[in-house]
Amino acid sequence: IGGDIRYFDEVDSTNDVAKKMGSSSDEGTVVIAEMQDSGRGRKGGHWMSPRGGVWMSVILKPNVVPAYAPRFTLMAGVAVAKAIRGLGVEASLKWPNDVLIGDKKVCGILTEMDAECDQINFVIIGIGINVNVLIEELSEDLRSSSTSLSEIKGEELDRIAFVQALLRALEDEYIRSKTSGFDSILEEWRSLSSTIGRDVDVVTPQRIIRGKAVGITENGTLLVETAEGLEEIVAGSCIHG
Ligand code: BTN
Repeated sequence: IGGDIRYFDEVDSTNDVAKKMGSSSDEGTVVIAEMQDSGRGRKGGHWMSPRGGVWMSVILKPNVVPAYAPRFTLMAGVAVAKAIRGLGVEASLKWPNDVLIGDKKVCGILTEMDAECDQINFVIIGIGINVNVLIEELSEDLRSSSTSLSEIKGEELDRIAFVQALLRALEDEYIRSKTSGFDSILEEWRSLSSTIGRDVDVVTPQRIIRGKAVGITENGTLLVETAEGLEEIVAGSCIHG
């Protein structure tokens, strides 16, 4: 991963650039930009991407069915958490796609895919990390729930070294998922997770599900023990209690 790195100063969204290149690029190609004008988040939201952050997309070509796409979000989360822990900072994972430091978000992951006839052509793993981002530069609604590595460390970080460590971690996890199976990634996700074992409110398009997060399945769905019994949640936003 990272054998071919395409570096841009400014793009709309690295995921969109990667999507256009996907079919004609080698697996492991990385698109990275200093800033994004229209960074995208989950549920069609905007992702603020000022200078100083790491905004990148990785193209993978796994030989799996589209239903497995959420696995890549979990895999990337594990790699990001490990890369951050390598700096001596306690990072944890919040279902489905956030990396937290304490209870503040430092990274979001947006996995998208190009698939046909039940076969994945390529997966784009979009990773946005507030590395040297000044929190004051984020919009007011994000400030209280976001942090950056430079804010935590009290100094600017070497972004190149960090990206190198992250790509290495991502490649390790990807190879492990192929050789030892996805279960080993899931195991790691659970141990790095701050969601499992917590009381949660999960906001889904239909309703809010309240209970205790007890597990995660191999399809990346969350298991919540509620007053009515065990619920399996495919998509939603999780609020830790
Ligand atoms: C989220 O938490 O809502 C996901 C945010 C994902 C942001 C990254 S930044 C690089 C890549 N390009 C995008 O437009 N989005 C992802």
